[in-house]
Amino acid sequence: MAKSISIDSSQGKLDQYRQLSYQLKALYEDEPNLYANLANTAAVLKEAFGFFWVGFYLKDSNRELVLGPFQGPLACTRIMKGNGVCGKAWEQMRTQFVPDVDQYPGHIACSSFSKSEVVVPLIRKDGEIWGVLDVDQSEVEAFGQVDQEGLELIAKTLSDIAVADEKS
Ligand code: SME
Repeated sequence: MAKSISIDSSQGKLDQYRQLSYQLKALYEDEPNLYANLANTAAVLKEAFGFFWVGFYLKDSNRELVLGPFQGPLACTRIMKGNGVCGKAWEQMRTQFVPDVDQYPGHIACSSFSKSEVVVPLIRKDGEIWGVLDVDQSEVEAFGQVDQEGLELIAKTLSDIAVADEKS
């Protein structure tokens, strides 16, 4: 049976991310399939924070990311390493915090409604990158440092448990 995940909205936002991360960890520990865990993670983040678009791009080769599970409007399917916000997060192995996508050189506009975003690289315990978590909002400056910190926590929880358990 599916577990229910909910957050206490009276808490501060970082605590909400922490609570989600804790509940997602329990979900990952019960389910070894990476795609199922990615799909639920996107759903839970969308529901908790009302993001415009939230999902994953996964490493498909040494040069390219391919679209993974997501919630939101139709998205670009492939992004080359170094291109756009996602490709830069991969190349630099660093979170990209973008208050206004129009000010980000090379931003890939999958939707003209996407105005700000945060992209967090997904890095395994051995240091290998396996994809990125991409979160978009439809207003400029919609994200704060608390979102970066919270999303990095979710990305780490996912990488440490869901990917570590995946038998490939
Ligand atoms: N923001 C991305 C493209 C993917 S969409 O936002 C879903 C980028 O510039 O890498």
